[in-house]
Amino acid sequence: MTDEYKDEAYWVRDQVKAHTRWFNQSLPMIASENLMSPMAKEMMISDFHDRYAEGLPKKRYYEGNIYVDEVELKCLELAKKLFRCSFADVRPISGTVANMAVLFAFAKPGDTLTTCALAQGAHISTAKFGAFGLRGVNSVNYPFNVEDMNIDVDATKKVLMEVKPKVAQFGLSVFLFPPPLKELQETFQEVGCTVWYDAAHVLGLIAGKQFQDPLREGVNILSASTHKTFPGPNHGILLGENLDEDQEKKLQRAAFPGVTSSHHLHAMAALSITLAEEMIFAERYAKQVVDNAQALGSALYELGIGVLCPHLNFTQSHTLAVDVREHEGGRVVSKDLEAANIICNKNMIPGDQSAVNPSGIRLGVQELTRVGMRESEMRQVAELIHRVAVKKESPKDVAKDVWELKKDFTKVMYCLHEGTEAYEYKELV
Ligand SMILES: Cc1ncc(COP(=O)(O)O)c(C=O)c1O
Repeated sequence: MTDEYKDEAYWVRDQVKAHTRWFNQSLPMIASENLMSPMAKEMMISDFHDRYAEGLPKKRYYEGNIYVDEVELKCLELAKKLFRCSFADVRPISGTVANMAVLFAFAKPGDTLTTCALAQGAHISTAKFGAFGLRGVNSVNYPFNVEDMNIDVDATKKVLMEVKPKVAQFGLSVFLFPPPLKELQETFQEVGCTVWYDAAHVLGLIAGKQFQDPLREGVNILSASTHKTFPGPNHGILLGENLDEDQEKKLQRAAFPGVTSSHHLHAMAALSITLAEEMIFAERYAKQVVDNAQALGSALYELGIGVLCPHLNFTQSHTLAVDVREHEGGRVVSKDLEAANIICNKNMIPGDQSAVNPSGIRLGVQELTRVGMRESEMRQVAELIHRVAVKKESPKDVAKDVWELKKDFTKVMYCLHEGTEAYEYKELV
């Protein structure tokens, strides 16, 4: 009996090791993932993991938080500095939990909120069966221009004036282009709504000044994950600008005790380190991410693959939306790519009805960029995808060439390496 469970524990550890070996040999292209720096990762198995801290620094319910408090205060200071804002809360343990905190603080059951629709790339937390629905709010979708993969400004102004939402929410999971916040600002003021931006996908691009800066474009509250284009721990964050004291208190109370008890102190420490690293590297990293995404978009398009929005250079972010209906659809293509060790996900694109059998795939380049890949590697990645998705070559054969490409890109870049700066791949070889 004892041996049986001992074996199971070792078995689990072996699975994780096998997964890690697999991902080392792969091209991970899920748009919501990234690699942490070695120093930030070290925090995840520190003693902080084993501890509890409830409430705000210096006002805790438990003892033992002397160092935790100092780190959390530094985390708040760095977050406000990097994102140039007056309010931060680093306790939400994920992007969805941060979204729940905003809903608890600013929306009551029965209130009306405006947001994008799932088929236009919105996150599941805005759905009727997600956090929005569970909070009991009514959500009204913005009119969307599918050609440009963005909100239709004139039609949206009309909707905002008609439904007068309490909160206007923005942000997507297939986030190709910045929503037209500046153009809508006057309408927000006329309606008197709070403006909320879910930056889960683009937080690192905002930090690196390569996307819009929502907090300078009329947004009051920004929620996000800290592990997508922002290369930190699996965690969440709340940022705010022009909030009054009452609004800040509401958000803090929503974070604790609303949606957390203790928060994840190890992740908070890792976030602090990533924020400091991003003060140094964010701009260079985010610029290369966007350059790579556009390079991959045009290489795939030249190979005849249906990347959306060629007239807009495909994307202004890390993400590409690709129509593969001619090549058996997103479900088949994403599975075949997985067998070739190119990891991405099937995704709905405008016009799709089914999330389980959609026409598209979503590709993200933030992780490949993080290990030092640039435009020339993006062309090789496009060819590998083409061989699997269009030419239908055996994924096993393609996997060998995936490894040929990947084997020189296994080190995390744009972060600190024990006393040295390491933002360029070549500097480390
Ligand atoms: C727009 C958006 N918001 C929130 C989330 C949720 O993030 P988390 O997984 O950190 O809860 C995601 C996840 O991908 C997302 O795309």
